[in-house]
Amino acid sequence: MTDIHLETKNLSFTYHDGTQALKNVNIQIKKGEKIAIMGPNGAGKSTLFSHFNGLTEPTSGHVEVDGDELIYERDELLKVRQKVGIVFQDPNDQLFAPTVKEDVAFGPMNLGLEYDEVKARITEALEMVGMTGFEDKTPHHLSGGQQKRVAIAGIIAMRPEIMILDEPTAGLDPEGVDKVLAILNKLNEEGISIVISSHDIEMVNQFAEKIFVLYNGEIIAEGDKHQIFSDKELLKKAHLKAPITTEILYKLKENGLNVDTEKISVDETVNEILNAKNI
Ligand SMILES: Nc1ncnc2c1ncn2[C@@H]1O[C@H](COP(=O)(O)OP(=O)(O)OP(=O)(O)O)[C@@H](O)[C@H]1O
Ligand SMILES: [Mg+2]
Repeated sequence: MTDIHLETKNLSFTYHDGTQALKNVNIQIKKGEKIAIMGPNGAGKSTLFSHFNGLTEPTSGHVEVDGDELIYERDELLKVRQKVGIVFQDPNDQLFAPTVKEDVAFGPMNLGLEYDEVKARITEALEMVGMTGFEDKTPHHLSGGQQKRVAIAGIIAMRPEIMILDEPTAGLDPEGVDKVLAILNKLNEEGISIVISSHDIEMVNQFAEKIFVLYNGEIIAEGDKHQIFSDKELLKKAHLKAPITTEILYKLKENGLNVDTEKISVDETVNEILNAKNI
């Protein structure tokens, strides 16, 4: 038994028009981890995610789930898609049924579950994302944030072991962001490994334990939040910005205060400021 849940080995991918979107990507995601893949527009995040459940086949290299290499045949892919659930960047790519409940039902029905079980899963998933009462609405008549939550419910209803979410909080209001993060944390507490992509550093700071930085199709760094956020050169290269707490600590240090710039949570930062002494 391996504790590596999802892995890519020397994964490269080139689109038909010759765009080399991924170059030799090696990442490992362990069971129960909360991971963020960060990188600027066009870095290759969505392309990478589409490899995680076999939607896209690598040009070279491969993907492993629970130590098994993905096989690009229908039955094999169905098995993989039960384990690895993907919430797309754009809910319009995901939501297609005439009503919310039919949309959420689609995945569980494809698993061949009994009617009662499907119904129970719809109720549970919509409750979890705070969309109870919207069962009969048309997904396209929902707001962007509501659509995102229904898309997440559709994947929750499949009960995957790994959830991959491409920009899960883009376009959400602050309360919506907190709600989605609370859902992801709850799923993670139940043992589900979670991988998100985002350029929202404050959100990633709140959520992820480990970060991979993707730039121009290559993983240029991996590490915990402290390592990544305190590396100014790296952030600049990847068109990312440090969290505001880190910026404040850097400014204080430049102004002669002896603070640790690797502290990143609000509480840690306040503590550093309260205890700061002149160098
Ligand atoms: N269908 C396609 N055909 C050709 N090139 C593509 C296609 N889809 C994406 N690309 C290119 O592949 C590269 C990676 O795109 P991708 O969508 O994976 O980036 P991303 O990191 O998800 O960006 P964003 O933050 O904007 O969502 C880009 O250079 C993009 O132009
Ligand atoms: Mg993308």
